[in-house]
Amino acid sequence: MSTYLLGLDLGTSAAKAVLLDSDGKVVNTGKASYPLSRPRKGWAEQDPEDWWGGLVKATHSATENLGNKDEVKALALSGQMHGSVFLDSSGEVIRPPLLWNDTRTTAQCREMEEVLGLDTLKSEVGNPILEGFTAPKLLWLRENERNNFERLATLLLPKDYIVYRMTGRTVTEVSDAAGTVLFNVSEGTWSEEVLGGLDLDRSILPPVLESTDTVGKLNRQAAEELGLSPDAVVVAGGADNACSAIGNGVLNEGQYLISVGSSGVVLAPTETMYSDPEDGLHSFNHAAPHRWYLMGVMLSAGLSLRWYRDKFAGPEREVAFLTGDDPYDLITAVASRVPIGAERLIFLPYLNGERTPHADPNARGVLFGLSDEHGREHLARAVIEGITFGLRDSMELVSGFGVPRQEIRLTGGGSKSEFWAQVIADNFDSPVNKTSVSEGPGFGAALLAGVGAGIYASVEEAVEIAVTAKKVAEPREGAVKKYEKLYGIYKSLYDALEDKFSSLAGLEAIK
Ligand code: XUL
Repeated sequence: MSTYLLGLDLGTSAAKAVLLDSDGKVVNTGKASYPLSRPRKGWAEQDPEDWWGGLVKATHSATENLGNKDEVKALALSGQMHGSVFLDSSGEVIRPPLLWNDTRTTAQCREMEEVLGLDTLKSEVGNPILEGFTAPKLLWLRENERNNFERLATLLLPKDYIVYRMTGRTVTEVSDAAGTVLFNVSEGTWSEEVLGGLDLDRSILPPVLESTDTVGKLNRQAAEELGLSPDAVVVAGGADNACSAIGNGVLNEGQYLISVGSSGVVLAPTETMYSDPEDGLHSFNHAAPHRWYLMGVMLSAGLSLRWYRDKFAGPEREVAFLTGDDPYDLITAVASRVPIGAERLIFLPYLNGERTPHADPNARGVLFGLSDEHGREHLARAVIEGITFGLRDSMELVSGFGVPRQEIRLTGGGSKSEFWAQVIADNFDSPVNKTSVSEGPGFGAALLAGVGAGIYASVEEAVEIAVTAKKVAEPREGAVKKYEKLYGIYKSLYDALEDKFSSLAGLEAIK
């Protein structure tokens, strides 16, 4: 009898399933999309029933060719972080969860800073207080929906709600607990000081496991719906970025993971916990025991290029429609014909505000240096370079802590472009490697499942067996020097514009 492992990724736009054999080879994958609801400006909610339905569907697709589904021995989830699933005492969802990209809680963030003080926040949670994080969502519920708050018995994170549906147990694990800002990331425990300061009841929070701990077996109903054996073991799993790092083999200090999806992420594992709330770097527990990571998050990385594709790349979209090519391949081909620096055109990628290094919801996109020489192709190159400069901001902050940089691995949709990998290598003055895995978070979750089920002795061993990377770009000396100068100008632009961004946002309020 063979052994298979299942990794499930609870994303923001879709559920994905990755089925691995015990050598860590991907056997099959599945995917099912679900909607995101934006009931008001800045709000972002989802229906946990849609999550469940999507995961069931994705699981069926990934396992459809298995002769004997009892061979799926273990599963684990990777999940979108920070969302608030509010349960009442009978385990019913009280209202739709507020997600990581919901920005309704600015007032509650400031309240947390005021009540707790920046020093306590720094020593206890070690992270900035951002609208997307979980604790301000709890305060929002208490202040705005008193009846719902009074029914609240348990607060779960999105993937942990699914674990609850699967096993009947309410638990979380360190890598997701870290994003609540109710958690002492350095100690690995809920922060009594923060809970006390905010007058929140400790009993609403679940026990915290390690990501590789087993939670239990699938209950009958979940097993039936998923088409799996009730003997399949559910392992605690991890936050999406932590799982993506594991799926890409980024486990050790010295390795950097750069992810260009809708958002942009620079993630660097560390052996001790560093804290940098002021610059918007996140400091979370890794999904491998006794490790942490520093992470910078850009809100509009791939999203900026998608904006370019949708609003300016009509010709490329038309050609792609006729030839079946990917419009992004055509856009990067056009961008690559323009010299480095897009003939002195610099793009600031703050289309929807920013998180790292400027935690500023009012920041907006800028095209600096526009002249009548410039055409769509310059804009395409400037957008790709501007996103890369934004990633470089996070990388420089992390390196500023003395975290060594021995290897860069690239992942996410943007990693498919050789041109972009080259821009990154030239900016980071470092070779860029890539693994063959395209579903990093689900793949990482499947490896955690394997560790929890005892198929691998440790996360290190799982990564050793399952993950290989190869070089896709080398830095070029001349290009490195040119980017150095351009980046210097890019970096100075936010400071010059910060107060103008807030005046501009004020105009919106008048309207
Ligand atoms: C991390 C973050 C996102 C979400 C959704 O802090 O907000 O990466 O986890 O992917």
